[in-house]
Amino acid sequence: MCGIIGYLGSRLAIPVLLEGLYAQEYRGYDSAGIATIEEGRLNIYKSTGKIAELDKKIGGQYGSATAGIGHTRWATHGKPSDINCHPHVDCRQKIALVHNGIIENYQEVKAALQDQGHHFLSDTDTEVLPHLLEQYYQGDLLAAMQEACGHVKGFYAMLALCLEEPRRIVAARLDNPLIIGIGQGEYYFASDMSALIDYTREMIILQNGDIADVSDQGVVIYNQGQKVERSVKHIDWDKEAAKKGGYPHFMLKEIHEQPKVLAQTMQGRLQEDCRRVDLNELALQKQDLQNIDQIAIVACGTAYHAGLIGKQVIEKLLRMPVMVELASEFIHNDPLIDQHTLGVVISQSGETMDTLAALRVFRENGAKVLAICNVVDSTIAREADQVLYTMAGPEIAVASTKAYSSQLMLLYMLAFHLAQILQRHSDEQLNVWLKAMYQLPQLAAALLAENEETIKTLAKTISDWQDAFFIGRGLDYAVAQEGALKLKEISYIHAEAYAAGELKHGTIALITPKVPVIALATQEPLLKMMVSNIVELKTRGAYVIALTRGAAPEVEHVADAVIHLPETDELLTPVLSVIPLQLLAYYAALYRDCDIDQPRNLAKSVTVP
Ligand code: G6P
Repeated sequence: MCGIIGYLGSRLAIPVLLEGLYAQEYRGYDSAGIATIEEGRLNIYKSTGKIAELDKKIGGQYGSATAGIGHTRWATHGKPSDINCHPHVDCRQKIALVHNGIIENYQEVKAALQDQGHHFLSDTDTEVLPHLLEQYYQGDLLAAMQEACGHVKGFYAMLALCLEEPRRIVAARLDNPLIIGIGQGEYYFASDMSALIDYTREMIILQNGDIADVSDQGVVIYNQGQKVERSVKHIDWDKEAAKKGGYPHFMLKEIHEQPKVLAQTMQGRLQEDCRRVDLNELALQKQDLQNIDQIAIVACGTAYHAGLIGKQVIEKLLRMPVMVELASEFIHNDPLIDQHTLGVVISQSGETMDTLAALRVFRENGAKVLAICNVVDSTIAREADQVLYTMAGPEIAVASTKAYSSQLMLLYMLAFHLAQILQRHSDEQLNVWLKAMYQLPQLAAALLAENEETIKTLAKTISDWQDAFFIGRGLDYAVAQEGALKLKEISYIHAEAYAAGELKHGTIALITPKVPVIALATQEPLLKMMVSNIVELKTRGAYVIALTRGAAPEVEHVADAVIHLPETDELLTPVLSVIPLQLLAYYAALYRDCDIDQPRNLAKSVTVP
């Protein structure tokens, strides 16, 4: 959500900025802009729509500027338009600024600045920032930034450029991510590491309250007015990991990466003989666990759906109550948590604003927090007491796939790990589960190889639908919720998930001839009830696609089409059953000609509440 890019060095700035913007397209945006300094004036280029439009407008006229800032905007305050697009400038067009976040007190700051004679053009909250800098500027952009930050409430990552100090970029961050890449005598800025990996692997991850002064002399960072040291991290991501690698879309590539990602997430954490899970990165001892009377899992979007599975698995294995909540609800609901609660927050990006707020609510209430994150050193990873990293690599498609399966994998491993500590199950029983878990990457690969063509055909049918219902019970219901989310977010087909047992309490009123239903029926003890539900739906004319674990003649007999998952322990089935649902959504969106990797109005990382 909003992407920031900046460059200071000796290369032509505009191509570097454009490339950085393209690399962050997946964050979600509706307009884009760039500012450079050239021949004694600020040059601003802006365009609504795709970055390609901005690129076209610039038309290869890169000039000679070697410093600049750029931005992709996801509209919050003010509709997408050239005026509301960043960079924003001060009255005298001497200072340009790009910003990710929200300035919550912008109305009062704006009124005060207007009283001082400042003239505003846009509807944005951001525009107060260059005017504040102008107000406090006395020949030192750093000092002006330090002063300005003291007058705003909210959260931000921002970069400022000033005509009078053309070889300086000042950056500030509070609760929104901002990275500085260090090259040979050149400096890059971005919201995401993946945007910089082609230029440098040496990166400084700014921390909350940091203000960085970057010039040809180097990087100096201040926090609360004091100089601070921030380490330069070497990022060893595979460059190719953030490229499509021959696939038409990142989403399809990421779906196919799941067998590898599942294996990576287990690597070093599952003993070779499948007798124990070793989450050595956790410092949880038996006495810590004995002090805990509940676990609370909090997350947003797909990560929340992973949490729904985590709840069922942990409760089954530990017989301990697990609450699972949407972060945006949790933070306002005065949750029943205290020092006897173990908080678990799940976030691919580690930057989702509501999940971060939830983490802080846990901390304020004395609860310890364990984060499950994909992005190393992200804000959530840093603020949590303990962190478990999913090893999914960069996930670029907005619709999360491989991050979800790696989150599931870690939740299973966490449940097994805690069950070991509390000695809740026999070694033999654990060995059965762990052996089954070890097989999952191989089974996921087989599932992809054997079912993709069938799923493609079914997706063709789905692509004509206006609505779709996903039903299931227990773990299947949790996976159904993720399946419905995938379908709606990328194909724009209205999709809802229902607990199959609830059908008769309302939803069945919506079932008329040809209404499509995707029924998950992978759980042996619930199979008979699922078959009854399918029959009830068929009686009313629904078109039913069922998902079963291995052969299930009783389901085949009643459903219109069946997708068979490879046999695995039913506790672990969600890791496999989500894959066909991801593929159904992908191909349905493809047939509907949707923008699969960047669905309308959605952002990869939601950094505003
Ligand atoms: C956005 C993304 C989803 C993601 C959710 C939570 O809505 O589009 O794919 O599941 O945010 O993101 P997080 O980074 O916290 O997992």
